[in-house]
Amino acid sequence: MGRRGALIVFEGCDRAGKTTQCKMLVDALNKRNIRAEYMNFPDRSTAIGKIISDYLTKKIELPDKAVHLLFSANRWELEPIIRNKLASGVSLIVDRYSYSGVAFSAAKKGMDLKWCWNPEIGLPEPDAVLLLNLKEEVSSKRGGFGQERYEVSDFQRKVKSNYISLKTPLWQFIDADKTVEDLHQEILSTFNTIYKNSNGKPIQVLEE
Ligand code: TMP
Repeated sequence: MGRRGALIVFEGCDRAGKTTQCKMLVDALNKRNIRAEYMNFPDRSTAIGKIISDYLTKKIELPDKAVHLLFSANRWELEPIIRNKLASGVSLIVDRYSYSGVAFSAAKKGMDLKWCWNPEIGLPEPDAVLLLNLKEEVSSKRGGFGQERYEVSDFQRKVKSNYISLKTPLWQFIDADKTVEDLHQEILSTFNTIYKNSNGKPIQVLEE
C-alpha cells in the first residue's frame, strides 16, 4: 500500500487568487507525478449545490440557518469521495471548506461561530489550511465584485475577522500580494513540506 494523499485547503476572501493557485498547484503536482485533484466548495454540480447556487445568484431566498446547513450538507455529501481519494493516494487541493462555511455564515446577524461550526464536526480535517491574505487596498484594485450575494466590502471585512477567530496551528497565512508565479512557487514549496509531514499520519476529523 502506498501513502495516502494530503488534504490541503485554501481559504481567503474573494479575489485573493485561490482558484488560480489551486489549479496551478494541481497541474504542477501532476507534472511531478504526484497524484492530485482540484475540489471546490460549494460544489454547485450536486442537487444540494444547485440550490446553493440559486441562493448565491439571488434566484431564491432561504433563511440564514437553512442555507448554512445546505453548505455543510454539500461537504457531507462529498465526504465519502474525499476519504476514498485520500486513501487511494490522491492529494486533494480544496478551494474553500468548512472555514468558509463558518466565516461567511457567522458574518450574518444572529449567527454565532459555535452554532455554525457544529455541523462541520466529524468532517475530515485538512493537513493544512493556507489562507491567502490580501490587504483590502490591494484586493479592491483587482476588479469589481460580481453580482453574487456576499460580494460586498463590509461583509468581506467581517469574514476576514471570522477567519482569524477560526485559526488553529494547521493554518498558514500566505501574503497573496505578489505575482501569480511567485505566489505559486511559494505555495509549491509549502506543499512539499506539508506532503512530507502528512506521510504516515492518519486523517483526523474536525472537532468541537
Ligand atoms: P465561490 O465564489 O468560491 O464559488 O464561493 C461562493 C460563495 O459562497 C463565496 O462568497 C463564499 C460562500 N461560501 C459560504 O457562504 N459557505 C460555504 O460553506 C462556502 C464553501 C462558501
